[in-house]
Amino acid sequence: MDICVIGAGYVGLVTSACLAYLGNQVIAVESNPERLNSLSQGIVPFFEPGLQEFVKVGIDSGFLTFSDKLEESVKKAQIIFIAVGTPSLPNGEPDLSQVMVVARAIGSAMDGTKRRIVVNKSTVPVGSGNWVEMLVSQGVANSQPVPARSTRMESPSFVVVSNPEFLREGSAITDSFYPDRIVVGSTDENAVAVMKNLYKPIIDQTFDPPSFAPRPKGFQEVPFVITDLASAELIKYSANAFLAMKISFSNEIAGLCEKVGADVKQVAQGIGLDYRIGKAFLNAGVGWGGSCFGKDVSALMQVAKEYSYPTPLLEATVAVNERQRLTVIKKLQEELKILKGRTVGLMGLSFKPNTDDLRDAPALTIAYQLLKMGASVKAMDPVSNERCQALNPNLDIVYCQDINELATDCDALVLVTEWDDFKHLHWKEVAKCMRWPLLIDGRNALSEEEVTQAGMTYRGVGR
Ligand code: UDX
Ligand code: UDX
Repeated sequence: MDICVIGAGYVGLVTSACLAYLGNQVIAVESNPERLNSLSQGIVPFFEPGLQEFVKVGIDSGFLTFSDKLEESVKKAQIIFIAVGTPSLPNGEPDLSQVMVVARAIGSAMDGTKRRIVVNKSTVPVGSGNWVEMLVSQGVANSQPVPARSTRMESPSFVVVSNPEFLREGSAITDSFYPDRIVVGSTDENAVAVMKNLYKPIIDQTFDPPSFAPRPKGFQEVPFVITDLASAELIKYSANAFLAMKISFSNEIAGLCEKVGADVKQVAQGIGLDYRIGKAFLNAGVGWGGSCFGKDVSALMQVAKEYSYPTPLLEATVAVNERQRLTVIKKLQEELKILKGRTVGLMGLSFKPNTDDLRDAPALTIAYQLLKMGASVKAMDPVSNERCQALNPNLDIVYCQDINELATDCDALVLVTEWDDFKHLHWKEVAKCMRWPLLIDGRNALSEEEVTQAGMTYRGVGR
């Protein structure tokens, strides 16, 4: 199938590379000249395991090309994916300006040669499918002499469907090929059939797995969920809000564990074995971050507000997470008493391991708070030191290249991102470098035994 993906950011690029791998002719349209230039050479400008290699496979096979020519690319395609960013505005609403520009441009570019499907891959508020349809229609109207109303009703040249993504950064390729479900929101039977056909190799698992994303043992057919437009949009938000709520729940229980002398890891294991609850996303720690959870929970609250519908669960999910980020500061105060003049080393900066993404990263909240309290902050992340420095030129922290450099003269180390690199260190050596051998494990990811055997004080979360 001929496909055009608009926006070669995180989601757009992964989508493009996967669809090209399945044998579709994909043009990824990117308006940022620097990004386009680097992608055209097969260089992925952000860190995602396997993606660089995967994009290269697509380019070499001839199925994946990059372009900045939206009009030309739309004309060639039968399916057009909108995958531009929808960042949060200061009031919590998503900024839809990129979607708006692109939707109108798609409309202007369309000709009457085929009926096209416009797929909303960007996370947009409930009801946006209809809005995108209106914008595309405006684009069509602006570029062509308006056809007779009756003709347009009989043979519309496009249909808008919603096809939310559920990719996790760090495992985006695996999530694309082996998803828990594929959701398509549309009441247009023909469009649903075309989308089902596009995803058929994934639904039936008939493709040859790429070497860097082997098929998990026993993985079989993928459920293809057909809904109306609004339900598909709500599924995306509800899934992320539920996951965020699950983590916040664990974090709230973690606080209680500390009061009563229980261990949240044991509690999580005990409740997670109940299949109705499930083990995933119960890890207590410094809380959730990233480009999606905060943005999606606040967008959901925003929609509810428009209908004067209270959402106490969502509000609590956010409040618990905000409090949770600062629990490590409380622990530092308990151990060190005064933070002014102390030096704290942050292990990890990105919002989770295996990505260099710093959007809404708990490490940044913690670093700013420590600086505000008069402490000095050092940090070391295996991949995002430079990115952090470039994006936060006013953040006065010392970036280190290895753990011993980080530990040198520190009064405490705080594990913020549970990179594998941090899991089994020579803690005795680390302790020797420190002024005071304190370790706060903000992700409950380290072995308390290994750390304490090295003569360090260990504090986890909820234990
Ligand atoms: C995606 C989704 O689209 C977002 O709605 C979801 O919630 C998270 O994932 P992401 O891939 O992270 O966003 O966005 P971003 O990294 O901002 O990439 C968007 C890309 O689109 C950028 O490379 C940008 O240059 C490009 N773009 C934007 C265009 O090519 N044309 C435009 O008009 C606007
Ligand atoms: C999320 C969703 O999982 C994905 O389906 C969606 O499409 C995009 O948003 P992502 O933001 O990449 O993916 O990361 P995810 O793995 O969900 O982690 C989000 C945050 O929660 C991270 O900061 C992580 O450290 C934190 N987390 C996760 C916990 O604190 N505890 C857990 O048990 C799991």
